[in-house]
Amino acid sequence: MTAPNPFSLDGRRALITGASRGIGRGIAEAYARAGARLALAARTTAGLSEVADSVAQCGAEVHTFAADLADAEAPTLLVERAAKALGGLDIVVNNAADAGHDGLTLDGYRRLLHLNLRAPVLITQAARPYLLESQAPVVINVSSVSARLGGAEPYGPLKAALSSYTVGLAREWGKDGIRVVAIAPGVIETDMTAGYTDADWWTGNLAERVALGRNGQVDDIAGVARFLASDAAAYITGAVIPVDGGWVHQF
Ligand SMILES: NC(=O)c1ccc[n+]([C@@H]2O[C@H](COP(=O)([O-])OP(=O)(O)OC[C@H]3O[C@@H](n4cnc5c(N)ncnc54)[C@H](OP(=O)(O)O)[C@@H]3O)[C@@H](O)[C@H]2O)c1
Repeated sequence: MTAPNPFSLDGRRALITGASRGIGRGIAEAYARAGARLALAARTTAGLSEVADSVAQCGAEVHTFAADLADAEAPTLLVERAAKALGGLDIVVNNAADAGHDGLTLDGYRRLLHLNLRAPVLITQAARPYLLESQAPVVINVSSVSARLGGAEPYGPLKAALSSYTVGLAREWGKDGIRVVAIAPGVIETDMTAGYTDADWWTGNLAERVALGRNGQVDDIAGVARFLASDAAAYITGAVIPVDGGWVHQF
């Protein structure tokens, strides 16, 4: 007799935001390989179509939703449309965010606040009725090492708020069997970090900053996101898991 695979996501219904590229795309592809059914969201239709084609090659069911999640109504509407398409939700991955370089203007701060914090909160709240119906419900928030580094720009403090939300919500929703966890990536090579991952000031002393001495790759995050969504992580909630190659010397 074959034992069930605790890492399988067979038939699980997953909503992933920011799935048109970068880490979100990597998570979508990892989930598809694990057997999940997918609802993918981002602003860019072309990027979503490309990812949908890629995951469909694994035989995954996939639905795409173009949405600007900084808009007030978009997060809740997205959950309703995704749940309708998939017939419910088991996994919610709040991944979409912007590092933002206009964060010290009022409009810039407001945009980052709405995308990086309000959207995950609204999506998670809207998903609750569906998660309550699920056999294996989990919310995965993509935070950042910046939550610990902080800074004057809003990115780090907003990620700290997202990590804090994760811990508190895990405590409140644990009684309902809903797990809430976060991943805190270090420096991962994506569009978001394209400006400095190969810059001399960063690579010059990478080994002193990061114990493993290299930048992270999308798959470094996607594998952890797959594990956290699976039954293998059934006793993990309220954890904010660093996936940063050991970026310990900064602290
Ligand atoms: N890369 C890193 O080193 C790193 C480190 C720590 C944490 N993180 C976190 O990891 C997550 C993914 O980052 P990434 O590096 O993959 O970033 P990325 O390559 O810039 O991708 C961001 C994703 O979010 C979507 N997005 C951006 N603005 C949006 C909006 N207003 N509405 C809906 N979707 C939007 C983008 O798609 P569209 O442009 O098509 O909308 C894209 O799919 C983020 O939460 C980020 O803060 C990344």
